[in-house]
Amino acid sequence: MKTNVIINGECVEELNKLPAESIDLIFADPPYWMRVDGVLNRPSGSEYDGCADEWDNQFSSLEDYKSFTKSWLNACVKVLKPNGSIWVIGGMQCVYTIGAIMQDLNLWFINDVIWWKTNPTPNFKGTRINNAHETMIWATKGKSARYTFNYKTAKELNKDTVFEKDFNAGIRKQLGSVWRIGVCQGEERLKDENGVKLHSTQKPESILYRIIALNSKLGDIVLDPFGGTMTTGTVAKRMGRKYIMIENNRQYCEFGQKRLDAVKECIGDIEKAIFDSKPPRVSFEEMIQAGYFKVGEKLFYNSKPYFFLTENGKIIRQDSEPLDIHTAIARVKNSTANRLNGWDYWEVRRNNEFVSIDNIRQKYISEVKYDVWYTKNIDGFNNAR
Ligand SMILES: C[S@@+](CC[C@H](N)C(=O)[O-])C[C@H]1O[C@@H](n2cnc3c(N)ncnc32)[C@H](O)[C@@H]1O
Repeated sequence: MKTNVIINGECVEELNKLPAESIDLIFADPPYWMRVDGVLNRPSGSEYDGCADEWDNQFSSLEDYKSFTKSWLNACVKVLKPNGSIWVIGGMQCVYTIGAIMQDLNLWFINDVIWWKTNPTPNFKGTRINNAHETMIWATKGKSARYTFNYKTAKELNKDTVFEKDFNAGIRKQLGSVWRIGVCQGEERLKDENGVKLHSTQKPESILYRIIALNSKLGDIVLDPFGGTMTTGTVAKRMGRKYIMIENNRQYCEFGQKRLDAVKECIGDIEKAIFDSKPPRVSFEEMIQAGYFKVGEKLFYNSKPYFFLTENGKIIRQDSEPLDIHTAIARVKNSTANRLNGWDYWEVRRNNEFVSIDNIRQKYISEVKYDVWYTKNIDGFNNAR
């Protein structure tokens, strides 16, 4: 299958040519069928460039729109990998219709996200409240899908509910389902050869940045069946993912290709989802052999010594059988669980201070296993040894 391509064609036809279960992540921004007739006017009389495009108005009835939605969603489901994710964005005109069809197709909703626009188009006539958001549905192929979710990376992206000064002080909170992002404008907005806005519904790159960071890995294939100005491909390429973009309008494809050609890969910790990488497994035994722990050393919980380390990495109390650190802490804490994560609780004494055994493990990994993640992300090594 060819990747890093724009396919100029009708999306259902083109999706049906792709191998089944070959795509990791789909972002779809379909026609909303806004039902806008003619030109919109501001109260001053000037024209407002809303979405009255032919591609958005191509439907004759709700049944027609439903049938179109069913066919492209069905084709997306076929190409999506069993553990892939699909995101669909829609406004109030279409998102309920689309959502119902997604459920009919057995897609399983993980979240719906509100894109709360910082700079929404006003309701010029003052006939209703300002429509300041769109909805994005994140779904998988079923409840048991083991989809990629870079949970800690998502936290790193959350500046919506964490003040800048708190973020800089290391505070992180779960990413929520309301994203405060501006409508695409300025330099980011593509213009045609006459300097006129190329596309009426170009999406902001920052939305795609979040979605791709949350639900994919380096090298994954990201597909967009309604490419438009190729926002999805642009962000995917920059983030080190592969892309397949489908769009039936030739002009959008041509401008989109130029946009894509100009993009350079820029891969940092977010793109690598470094915050979510799992620590390599290491044994107590190997850390004792390497001199990071000593045989006979006391293990403390809440500043009280409980156990001694043995040569084989088990811990022992004079009157008890050898235990692993996880069983031992569960017993000390009188937990109803048989095992707790011992790395979270046990400490040793170093230079008259209590030091978490997890910090020592991290130090060992960073120094001996050379794991980049630890050297970059974990503090508190310095006094550990
Ligand atoms: C809402 S726009 C997508 C905008 C895009 N997300 C962006 O950031 O530029 C929908 C796009 O789908 C295209 N389109 C509509 N029907 C299509 C179809 N059946 N197959 C392929 N593309 C289609 C339209 O030309 C339009 O560019």
